Amino acid sequence: MKSATPSVLIWLALLSVLVVGAWFAVTHTTRQWSERDIDLRTELAVSSARRALLSALHGQDTQDLQLLLGDLITDERIMAAAVCDAEGKALAASASYPPVFSCPSLLARVRSAVLSGNKPWRENVPLKQTTVYLAAIPLLEQGELRGFVVLVHDLSFVSRRERSAQLFLLLAFVVLALGSATITLVSSRLLWQAWNKSLRRIAKGETQEVDKRPEFQPLLQDLRDLLDRLAQEEQAEQHGGIWNPQRLKLTLRRHLHGERIIVLANREPYIHQHDAEGGIGVVHPASGLVSALEPVMRACSGVWVAHGAGDADRQTVDAQDHVRVPPGEESYLLRRLWLSEEQERGYYYGFANEGLWPLCHVAHARPTFRTEDWQQYQQVNQKFADAVCQEASSEDPVILVQDYHFALAPRMLRARLPRATIITFWHIPWPNVEQISICPWHRELVEGLLGSSILGFHTQQHCNNFMEAADHFIESRLDREDFAVIRHGQRTLVRAYPISVEWPHHHASEAPPAAQCRAELLAQLQLPPDTLLGIGIDRLDYTKGIEERFRAVERLLEREAALIGRFVFLQIASPSRTQIERYQQVNRDVEELAARINARFGREGWQPILLRRRHTEPADVFRLYRAAQLCYVSSLHDGMNLVAKEYVAAHDDELGVLVLSQFTGASRELREALIVNPYDIEAASGALAQALLMPAEEQTARMRAMRRAISEANVYRWAGRMLIDASRLRRREQLIELLTDQHDYPLARSA
Ligand code: G6P
Repeated sequence: MKSATPSVLIWLALLSVLVVGAWFAVTHTTRQWSERDIDLRTELAVSSARRALLSALHGQDTQDLQLLLGDLITDERIMAAAVCDAEGKALAASASYPPVFSCPSLLARVRSAVLSGNKPWRENVPLKQTTVYLAAIPLLEQGELRGFVVLVHDLSFVSRRERSAQLFLLLAFVVLALGSATITLVSSRLLWQAWNKSLRRIAKGETQEVDKRPEFQPLLQDLRDLLDRLAQEEQAEQHGGIWNPQRLKLTLRRHLHGERIIVLANREPYIHQHDAEGGIGVVHPASGLVSALEPVMRACSGVWVAHGAGDADRQTVDAQDHVRVPPGEESYLLRRLWLSEEQERGYYYGFANEGLWPLCHVAHARPTFRTEDWQQYQQVNQKFADAVCQEASSEDPVILVQDYHFALAPRMLRARLPRATIITFWHIPWPNVEQISICPWHRELVEGLLGSSILGFHTQQHCNNFMEAADHFIESRLDREDFAVIRHGQRTLVRAYPISVEWPHHHASEAPPAAQCRAELLAQLQLPPDTLLGIGIDRLDYTKGIEERFRAVERLLEREAALIGRFVFLQIASPSRTQIERYQQVNRDVEELAARINARFGREGWQPILLRRRHTEPADVFRLYRAAQLCYVSSLHDGMNLVAKEYVAAHDDELGVLVLSQFTGASRELREALIVNPYDIEAASGALAQALLMPAEEQTARMRAMRRAISEANVYRWAGRMLIDASRLRRREQLIELLTDQHDYPLARSA
């Protein structure tokens, strides 16, 4: 709209110049016409009375003259009249004749007018506040001046004429100006709207319905080219070689101008705990989310907002509740938030882990939804969203919201930071419509997540499930081609980004080679050096299928008696969410089962299952992976499962076998693992046997292929792809914003 203003102003200026010119021309012409009109009338009046006037002059008949003058001034434009003789003596005058125009004063002018061709003399003369037109018409007889008639004309009608002509001109100008301005504005507005619509359609990828008018085509083509270039750049980014921390950092700098990232995740990457000696130690939590995201934060820097859950956490933060991490390296900030017991119970244990966790996993644990938990969940989401806003240093920060603890936060953030790029990643499965509708607040969850710019899941199936949920539960439009949900004009891209591990793993260069790790571990466990070692490393969670795993080990020993005394399965189980009854239950069940199997097969100095229920630090976990010839991941349902990928990442000796549940996201990528149904104990035990008997060459071939897959699809690629998609979306949104009416001269700026 504003783009039409300059042309309207120019048009108005031109019109004004024209009007001023016309004003002068009209005034001048009106006066000329009026004077000519007066002259004609004067001559006509005098010439028709000439004879009578001359005879009255001869007879010096003042009475006759007076009558004749009376006739003359019947013309409404003649104010007064007088007759003078050739010597300049006044013979008669109308009553209103101004004495200032005396006959003697006019005689000389009349004579000179006669000498220059018998013309009447005439002039505009000021009289009081006005101007009159004075005309002296000689009365000649045989070339001799006998006298003259003086007529005083009222010129006020000329001024009136001029004024009406000027008024008409002014009106015409106003009508013309208003009319032309309105036409210009309306037509430019319509044109602009049509352009805008077409440009926005192209920017959104809706190329079918763009304006076909030829004058639009060059500009639309430019925009298409620009978008193609963006897409090509993005493709090149995604397929151009191995991702590493440097490339991720560059991507962030190049595509998102190096803005610092704000991560919102419930679990903090470093927990400060008091140790037995009264000091403070750092614990690395057992969390796939943390192990994936931490290397990304080390590469990108920024701030990680999380629940301060350690008993020494408050002692290690500054006044803003910040602490620099990792200890010693200090490449990013950790902002801790404090939760009351009631909040933690309702939000974390209750709604997140007794409600959403069992709801999203097919693991036969009944979800529990309580209104009090839901209220705490809402409040805590708001509390975290507020903290993220405090950490944002611009109005369009890049925020990574993590997992099922914060389904509502994206919408809350969007309300406060409408221009933010919010990337939400859901680390656990997203169930189908029937299942998600079990949650009484399923609509709110979907709406909350749709505050995100990008919503990521591990697998395409979870993306499909979410799209279905959005379709079923809320008023929205689905763009199935672009895989996006559009609600209230805001677009959320729904994408699969399989999470992964860092590559190369930072413990890879520190940990001893596999053979040494195994020898040291077996010595520590007081087992013979030729012991075959299998491993399982999990949080003690009912979704991990630890009982099924033990049963498979039991069956293995039943089938392969030669393994009795030779094979040991080491299970590291980090206690998790221990306040929840279902977790206490799985803890008991696992312990009892291990005890039963050990009692059945165990003998002096050897037990088939070694269950270690304790937290193990990542560096030690890495050595355990290296030491084991076999890793069994038997999750009953798992979004991804990074244990599987970490086991592969640890085996740079290219030996070792991964037995992997078909119900993990990882099984879609690690095809060379022995994929099993963990419920099928017979088949799973068969896979364990196959793994233990597998020739080294086959192990290497499988391990090499899996290592190649992870080295390419590492965690830097996971984050990089999301950031690239976010930046593409951000650029597209900026473009669309430029094309909306709130901005000045959008085309000029985007060009
Ligand atoms: C899963 C969840 C994570 C969580 C982790 C550990 O991987 O997706 O969000 O951090 O488990 O669970 P915890 O409850 O100890 O954080």
